[in-house]
Amino acid sequence: MAAIELDGIVRRFGDTTAVAEVSLTTERNEFLVLLGPSGCGKTTLLRMIAGLLEPSEGRILVDGQDVTTLPPRERDLAMVFQNYALYPHLTVERNLGFGLSVRKTGKQEIRRRVEEVAELLDLGHLLRRRPKELSGGQRQRVALGRAMVREPRAFLMDEPLSNLDAKLRAGTRTRLISLHRRLDTTFVYVTHDQIDAMTMATKVAVLNQGRIEQFGTPVEIYDEPASAFVAGFMGAPPMNLLPAELGAGYDDEVVVRAPGVEVALPLRAGADPGIRDVLLGVRPEHLVPVPADHDGPVLRGRVDIVENLGNEEIAQIEIGDLRVNVRGSRPIRLGPGDITTLAVRPEHIHLFARQSGRRLSWESAPVPALVS
Ligand SMILES: Nc1ncnc2c1ncn2[C@@H]1O[C@H](COP(=O)(O)OP(=O)(O)O)[C@@H](O)[C@H]1O
Ligand SMILES: [Mg+2]
Repeated sequence: MAAIELDGIVRRFGDTTAVAEVSLTTERNEFLVLLGPSGCGKTTLLRMIAGLLEPSEGRILVDGQDVTTLPPRERDLAMVFQNYALYPHLTVERNLGFGLSVRKTGKQEIRRRVEEVAELLDLGHLLRRRPKELSGGQRQRVALGRAMVREPRAFLMDEPLSNLDAKLRAGTRTRLISLHRRLDTTFVYVTHDQIDAMTMATKVAVLNQGRIEQFGTPVEIYDEPASAFVAGFMGAPPMNLLPAELGAGYDDEVVVRAPGVEVALPLRAGADPGIRDVLLGVRPEHLVPVPADHDGPVLRGRVDIVENLGNEEIAQIEIGDLRVNVRGSRPIRLGPGDITTLAVRPEHIHLFARQSGRRLSWESAPVPALVS
């Protein structure tokens, strides 16, 4: 049985359509991440699942039960917000147990649940403290723990890590992953951060303007983005997208021509023959500097900036009016002003229809590339 099912969900605010026709199903124990840029409708969707907001259209089912019109407290879901508010005058222990005491749970049972959650989140030594005596990360864990003492049917989290610094984010991610592994519960996690999605999710729904662009595992979303939007959203830096044209090559090959770019790529004619205007997509880590006479698909350009990240370097290459990023282990052996040739393996080339942004499927030709 599906843990959470969204069936044709629409939400309008006056003239604004915040969520436009979202349908998706999560299995029990899934870590579902709703990923997308600010304003794409993530919070609106989560608030509808929680019962804090009614959909304009559509149905929401939890464990097979239609909860579309049920008030939040009857849905048995726990929500953790971006701006978690702890009770400042209560100790960590009382903060954790608060939801249970409101529900008239017995004292013994509250203590048992609080101790269990404190142990899971490594808060045992902090139970006597008040929120102002905690670090940001510890406060965040108390907020999570407060949701967890209830053993809900699912956890709903809205950007819960966004107030943490990079190191704490990484640590809390690890904790959430192991938490998810230990609890037999569904997580629905909203974020604009693609690293959150890559590291924690079992399934990702990428949202754009209130619609799902792609629904799949993190690996599927990264390796086979369904649209130029998804390709340009995942990865840091994201996939390079170059306007190009499809033309006929020898035999049944298709050649990709990019104006101002010295590149021709062989494709088995799997791409829609009606489409000429495409976006050629290559991830920064799939471009490799090679000698100028390299035999295979290449891009040629001039190195502008090289950024040193410690373990890796990112070079920005100017190709005509365009710019691509190249990422590699340090030293990447590219310097500002160099004219460089960058090879890409055919299987690392993505094509998208320029107009619709949809992915075009094609098969890599077995023969080596033609270089024009
Ligand atoms: N209560 C509201 N009234 C009017 N417009 C809203 C309201 N809540 C959200 N919106 C609009 O709906 C869209 C989606 O918002 P939201 O769900 O908060 O996006 P996200 O969480 O992805 O940043 C935005 O255009 C936002 O301005
Ligand atoms: Mg939001």
